[in-house]
Amino acid sequence: MAALAVAALFSASACSADETAAASKDVEVFTWWADGGEKAGLDGLVAQFGTSCADYKFVNGAVAGGAGTNAKAVLASRLQTNDPPSTFQAHAGAELSDYINAGQVEDISAEYATWGLTSAFPKGLIDNITVDGKIYSVPANIHRANVLWSNKTVTAKAGITKDADTLDGFIADLDKLKAGGVAAPLALGKDWTQVMLLEAVLISDLGADKFTGLWNGSTDWKGADVTASIEKFKKLLTYTNKDRDTLDWTDAEKSIMEGKAAYQLMGDWEAADLDAKGFKDYGYSVFPGNGSTFQWLADAFVLPKGAKNVDGTKCWLKTVGSAEGQKAFNSKKGSIPARTDVSSDGFPAYQQAAMADWKSAKQVPSCAHGAACSQGFQGAIVSAAGKFSSDGNVAALQAALAAVAAQFAGKK
Ligand code: GAL
Repeated sequence: MAALAVAALFSASACSADETAAASKDVEVFTWWADGGEKAGLDGLVAQFGTSCADYKFVNGAVAGGAGTNAKAVLASRLQTNDPPSTFQAHAGAELSDYINAGQVEDISAEYATWGLTSAFPKGLIDNITVDGKIYSVPANIHRANVLWSNKTVTAKAGITKDADTLDGFIADLDKLKAGGVAAPLALGKDWTQVMLLEAVLISDLGADKFTGLWNGSTDWKGADVTASIEKFKKLLTYTNKDRDTLDWTDAEKSIMEGKAAYQLMGDWEAADLDAKGFKDYGYSVFPGNGSTFQWLADAFVLPKGAKNVDGTKCWLKTVGSAEGQKAFNSKKGSIPARTDVSSDGFPAYQQAAMADWKSAKQVPSCAHGAACSQGFQGAIVSAAGKFSSDGNVAALQAALAAVAAQFAGKK
């Protein structure tokens, strides 16, 4: 018995030594990029990591669910119990400030200097991710939120020959589609996807500067122009599928691919996802009435406090910030490099157009994807929009939005 117990003890300790050695090579990368175009983008980055950081091993910590709805909850509980992944995905802007304010991520300003990142990213983006003179994340990309995707066969069949550039023109097109038998021409999903649609309508009605003012306190949520926007948003909901509150963005996208709907407002991860799924018959344009406004968001990676394998994580972060890493990732993700020195050669046509737009367009931040508002602010807006999806009460939604904005004033 005693001999057996000793043998067991030895084999247990030998095994755990091996495990420890293997674990020290592991870099657990926590994202919500589990399928389709999102996974394809992650795979591109992982391939580059394999080349640049051959000493380390990528471990996929992805938790599925659009915009991180599930992942963020899992992450919050892991951070709370001091069990952080080696690195995690967070949005540049207010969402990142949440993690910084909570002391959950490390200052990597020194690495910025060593890796030559300070001059590689545009100044506006650097300002956006700098808190009290320090930088805590490496942006992987710039996504555009305000894009309208379409099924070209469905729109052509309804006699639509040109993308609408005003909200009224868009509503006229949706009427044509309905008259032609497309019952729910505007595909829509749940919570955050509805907030994206509301944001796009607000950009059309208020214009870029007033829209940005909604997030910094200089535009009044109680204004008559906001009421008018919510009325238009309500009107647009009448063209959407009734099961919207149960669908993720990919479910809504499916009805575009199947020709059951004509349009979907979605960020440009949809380009990568449609490509990954082999659907070629799609068109894209800026959301009607948004003109040359580019509503942006950026995915970034961090070094969490207490991360296991700090050196491996730094190698991941360096890869994310490198020109090669940004090309490998963005050419498959639908987004464009955050770096300014990556050539558009070899990128799909959509991203080439987006790269040109990014330089010339007026930039506004996205709240649904954390650039403009904190997680608390965003969560409150998502629940107000969810309520509106079932009761359609314009005054109640506006009052709720104004109350949320007042609650978070000055602390986004
Ligand atoms: C966003 C994220 C994108 C994309 C999208 C859909 O929040 O920034 O990279 O993953 O969610 O899941």
